[in-house]
Amino acid sequence: THQWRGIIEEYRDRLPVTDTTPVVTLREGGTPLVPAQVLSERTGCEVHLKVEGANPTGSFKDRGMTMAISKAKEEGAQAVICASTGNTSASAAAYAVRAGMVSAVLVPQGKIALGKMGQALVHGAKILQVDGNFDDCLTLARSLSENYPVALVNSVNPVRIEGQKTAAFEIVDMLGDAPDIHVLPVGNAGNITAYWKGYREYAADKLATRTPRMWGFQASGSAPLVRGEIVKDPSTIATAIRIGNPASWDYAIAARDESGGFIDEVTDREILRAYRLLAAQEGVFVEPASAASVAGLLKAAEQGKVDPGQRIVCTVTGNGLKDPDWAVAGAPQPVTVPVDAAAAAERLGLA
Ligand code: F0G
Repeated sequence: THQWRGIIEEYRDRLPVTDTTPVVTLREGGTPLVPAQVLSERTGCEVHLKVEGANPTGSFKDRGMTMAISKAKEEGAQAVICASTGNTSASAAAYAVRAGMVSAVLVPQGKIALGKMGQALVHGAKILQVDGNFDDCLTLARSLSENYPVALVNSVNPVRIEGQKTAAFEIVDMLGDAPDIHVLPVGNAGNITAYWKGYREYAADKLATRTPRMWGFQASGSAPLVRGEIVKDPSTIATAIRIGNPASWDYAIAARDESGGFIDEVTDREILRAYRLLAAQEGVFVEPASAASVAGLLKAAEQGKVDPGQRIVCTVTGNGLKDPDWAVAGAPQPVTVPVDAAAAAERLGLA
């Protein structure tokens, strides 16, 4: 029987691995590219969702982590460390288990979603809640990896970007060419860097006739790339992208400018509206940060920036189950009924 083998085996010749690299995998990648009917109607375009929440730990981070942990193992590391707003730590913890390594994770105190904390805990990571934000966590993780025997698996590690670029390959492989526009949420800016690298490589090797314009969206309270300066105290309900000083800043600006795209902001209100639309009208449950891409597309469409007839891919980066508080908040409490068909039918409006 055949199943997707994970991104290292599927794209081995495009990744920095050799025959002796131990492949640590949970069969990540190969995620659904789902046509988005309502978004297509709203924009007059052909919109697809790259559903990265379908990865083994529920986010796109697994693509980078299979590479980072495999290379760390190849180099003989026994422990890995990362700073995280939650998804990187969940992924690092799971892949470290597969590799027989210890994982340490640094998260901003009180600012990561419960599901992500649960993942790190159940996979046995050593967790430190840092009295600071993600940017402080990353500073600390870098310093620890420089001074102690522990490998850094954040996206400042270039093999993370190598793994994550495979999402662009999958999209071109599915569509037969690059889309006109690729839209994604931007936090630490590793992923926009990775997609742009993937699209450029495919175009250079004539596997695509072109590269897409890259559109990135940050949350308004955490939008350093839009402001052009570090945000000291970033805020947003989309905790995954609550980042004030992105590590891949220059690469994100290069992706924007070389592709003829832009990086803009969306408010928390716009994020939550897109979050609900995706769930209620497309049947795709994502976490709030992931909805920033769709919120951005809708904002751009309202501003008249989206010419009809284009092919657009929005990456939705993480699974909604990681942070279900926002699904429950503000929704009506389900009513309780007795074990009685007539009563249930009446409550359901069937009778
Ligand atoms: N969406 C989700 C669900 C994320 O978890 C992240 C980043 C992003 C988007 C932004 O991607 O950082 O490459 O620009 N999460 C990191 C983490 C920071 O620690 O899990 P980016």
